[in-house]
Amino acid sequence: MNSNSFVLKGDFCYSRDPRHLETVRDGFLVSVDGVSAGIYQILPEPYWGLPVEDWSGRLIIPGLTDLHVHAPQYAFRGLGMDLELLDWLEAHVFPEEAKYRDLDYAGKAYGIFAGDLKRGATTRACIFATAHTEATELLMDLLEETGLETLVGRVNMDRNCPDFIRESGARSSAKETVRWLEETSGKYRRTRPILTPRFIPSCTDELMERLAEIQREYHLPVQSHLSENGGEGAWVQELCPASRFYGDAYDAFGLFGGGAKTIMAHCVLSCDEEIALMKERGVYIAHCPQSNTNLSSGVAPVRRYLDEGLNIGLGSDVAGGSSLSILRAVADAVQCSKLRWRLLDQTLAPLTVAEAFWLGTVGGGSFFGKVGSFAPGYELDAVVLDDSHLKTPLELSVGDRLERAVYLTEERDVAAKYVKGQKIF
Ligand code: GUN
Ligand code: FE
Repeated sequence: MNSNSFVLKGDFCYSRDPRHLETVRDGFLVSVDGVSAGIYQILPEPYWGLPVEDWSGRLIIPGLTDLHVHAPQYAFRGLGMDLELLDWLEAHVFPEEAKYRDLDYAGKAYGIFAGDLKRGATTRACIFATAHTEATELLMDLLEETGLETLVGRVNMDRNCPDFIRESGARSSAKETVRWLEETSGKYRRTRPILTPRFIPSCTDELMERLAEIQREYHLPVQSHLSENGGEGAWVQELCPASRFYGDAYDAFGLFGGGAKTIMAHCVLSCDEEIALMKERGVYIAHCPQSNTNLSSGVAPVRRYLDEGLNIGLGSDVAGGSSLSILRAVADAVQCSKLRWRLLDQTLAPLTVAEAFWLGTVGGGSFFGKVGSFAPGYELDAVVLDDSHLKTPLELSVGDRLERAVYLTEERDVAAKYVKGQKIF
């Protein structure tokens, strides 16, 4: 055991499986070299010499994973929420993302994003930047300093967007991507690249072919968008008439899971064939309920994805989603699933809080490995929540306090955070 090992004392809530919450009041969580050695009611003798951080009375939960967030959109979160996806991209997203050509602006905006991500309950995130190489590297520098574990993508987009944001062709988009990969290779401990074609409408066939080559050469994970909105789906069908469904258009280029570890955001409107292929290829679904509500996209059939054993976690999708909080996304996932069940399809039961919490911790965390639980062997990502100001005369169990934390936590309630066994504040 090195000096990196320690013990956290407090009240714990975490998941071992989607259906149940594990709770321990007044327990000891042992972190050995950044990995959980389990939670104990009485600290076992081999650990007596370790330093103890005493958070008695505080609620300690695993760090949350944001599987899908756009860093350059954080500046306009909570604004421009009255449009659907394609009009919203033109009116708000592309003009804002164009500003990241200016490194002063990028530094200011990304500094705020990285600072807020650090202070919240998220410990891992998969992040879209923009098509600007320098600004993307700046974002990676800032994220590395936070102590969070992140995957960051320089966005590729060479068609169907205004000149001021479009890359000047497949060849130069691919070339810039390689330059970005070479310049950041080996530079960071916690910040890694992820290949990020924006979505099918933004990428020519030639670009997709070149990106697939880069994926294979650099063994990169991949992130993109899938079956988010009706108009988008119809457009993909026009652009790729040979594809049987939206996901098939990625698959045609070998960019739909399998060898490449892949996250697809949304999957609100996926057909049976698409769902079957995602399952076969181990594609991760980033469920983004708040974004799907704000952009009137719909409600993904998360109960089905969960019960059929697909890989799935939660995303904030800022600025489609207005909140950066994945605890908020847990509550939104439950609430949206209830509306879907009540209004749309009574064969799919609503999610429970336990299930949605599992999605936000273990479900998304598994993209990063053994992450998102306190069970022995999991990497030690922990968030200490101070719920003492949520006053009530009720006697609450630890499970009750987790449920309230999901519905009522604000950023200021995070008292301390640990990532891979390192305290980051
Ligand atoms: N599809 C393509 N680009 C975007 C984006 O920036 N946000 C969302 N929600 N969907 C997209
Ligand atoms: Fe998105």
